[in-house]
Amino acid sequence: PRVGIVVVAAGSGTRLGAGGPKAFVGIGRHSILRHALDGVFAAPAAQVVIVVPEGRDGDARTEALQAAGDRADLVTVVTGGATRQQSVAAGLAALWGDVEVVLVHDAARALTPPEVFSRVIAAIDAGAAGAIPVLPVIDTIKRVTGDEIVGVVDRSELAAAQTPQGFRRDVLDAAYAAASDDFTDDAALVAEAGHTVSAVPGHPLSFKITTAADLDRARQLVGAAPV
Ligand code: C5P
Repeated sequence: PRVGIVVVAAGSGTRLGAGGPKAFVGIGRHSILRHALDGVFAAPAAQVVIVVPEGRDGDARTEALQAAGDRADLVTVVTGGATRQQSVAAGLAALWGDVEVVLVHDAARALTPPEVFSRVIAAIDAGAAGAIPVLPVIDTIKRVTGDEIVGVVDRSELAAAQTPQGFRRDVLDAAYAAASDDFTDDAALVAEAGHTVSAVPGHPLSFKITTAADLDRARQLVGAAPV
């Protein structure tokens, strides 16, 4: 396939406090990973590389084959690293030769709607080197030092970054080959390599499940969804 989607699911889930890797925690009947993969496989056909904690390959493959249906041959499972950046790198190394556009997606954004994947792919197809979904920042943002407000930040210039973040494969491979520091997202790494990254509309349902409160919210949303 022309598109590859790297789903990073190798995080420890420490902040969630569920006693195990976050991707395998349940939301309703299915795991976070399975919900994320349902969204991934609803997008146009792509190679899907799933990056998981050491020893969880078999579990991930079982979940992936259920989500993939008749696209099981498009699934690759690899082991991640100590940081998100290392896990993405492990996923990139497993992409097939014909992949030209790469999307990197957090499994923790389990409820991301398929249309967001399509928007990101469309932006790359229209010529962008990279494209990421963003949402406007709702709160007024202050600059704070200690307990003192030291300034206001112009909210109109700010946006919250989500995933899937999409890139031309050659651009992302080169940026990873050159990267040293630990970047918090792939767009920052690609921007550091000198490329312009486009913004496309994100989605409120793409929130990242990080804390117990996020997990409660996801469970309520899944529970309330029409069958
Ligand atoms: O920790 P956080 O939720 O910000 O991580 C974002 C995504 O990156 C999650 O889906 C998590 O599983 C993944 N990750 C990873 N390898 C790591 C750390 C995080 O695949 N070492």
